[in-house]
Amino acid sequence: MSKHLPKASIFITGAAAGIGRETARVFAARGWRVGAYDVDLAGLQSLKAECSGDITIGTLDVVDAEACKAAVAEFASADGGRLDVMFNNAGILSVGHFEDIDVRRHHAIVDINLKGVINGCLAALPHLRATPGSRVISMASASAIYGSPDYASYSATKFAVRGLTEALDIEWSRFGIRVMDIMPLFVKTAMVTDIEQPISIGRLGIRLSAQDIAQTVWRAAHWSAWRRVHWYPGIQTRAMSLANALSPGLLNRATVKTLSGY
Ligand SMILES: NC(=O)c1ccc[n+]([C@@H]2O[C@H](COP(=O)([O-])OP(=O)(O)OC[C@H]3O[C@@H](n4cnc5c(N)ncnc54)[C@H](O)[C@@H]3O)[C@@H](O)[C@H]2O)c1
Repeated sequence: MSKHLPKASIFITGAAAGIGRETARVFAARGWRVGAYDVDLAGLQSLKAECSGDITIGTLDVVDAEACKAAVAEFASADGGRLDVMFNNAGILSVGHFEDIDVRRHHAIVDINLKGVINGCLAALPHLRATPGSRVISMASASAIYGSPDYASYSATKFAVRGLTEALDIEWSRFGIRVMDIMPLFVKTAMVTDIEQPISIGRLGIRLSAQDIAQTVWRAAHWSAWRRVHWYPGIQTRAMSLANALSPGLLNRATVKTLSGY
């Protein structure tokens, strides 16, 4: 029997499309063991067909906490329980006036974008604890820098992911686990290209690709300098974050109001 050489491993939710899919491709191409999970089995099958790397696929709805536990445990058990990175990426978006969006859709946004991340963190914890240098990386968004009109529920969930990340990064330092989030402006994926373009996209443009975010996830997975919690991919996102930190609240409000056409 050949000697088993452990590979670093990443579990990715929402891996059938967009950022999750590109991240799966990047990590698999660079020799990682990738767990690609999503509600979209056909998308996962086409991902597996086009990648030559070590990719395990499985259907998973992140809203189901027990299913998350079982999927992460099954993936990690293939390598003695090891898990280097949990990437909480699955998310959905609806854009429009708050009152025009059906309450069930608001609730689904909270269930997937926030509860899904909580479920992912809990499911991954035993395996991350068993793996030195492990980390959680979650997709937040630039809409967690200042509340985004027309994206109110979405923006609220991303603020929540940001808060969860900051809190767990401190809590789980006692287990040696780093917890980070990624906060980009618009990324060219179906999430924003397949919707009626809101004014904010017209004014800011879509300047990031899924590949840009996958590279950021790669850097976050390897970062070993200071304890960096938030990642802002691209100059535009970094400028927005810096301006928000340095400007008074009223100026930030006025800027966001103008950018979103109110
Ligand atoms: N695209 C952007 O502009 C942008 C910007 C900032 C942050 N983000 C965040 O990045 C993440 C990925 O977004 P994307 O742009 O790749 O979107 P996308 O729509 O291209 O892909 C999202 C994937 O999540 C999957 N998914 C949806 N609900 C799920 C569930 N309940 N369980 C498991 N999988 C589920 C979908 O099937 C899809 O494959 C999201 O969290 C999103 O909020 C996106």
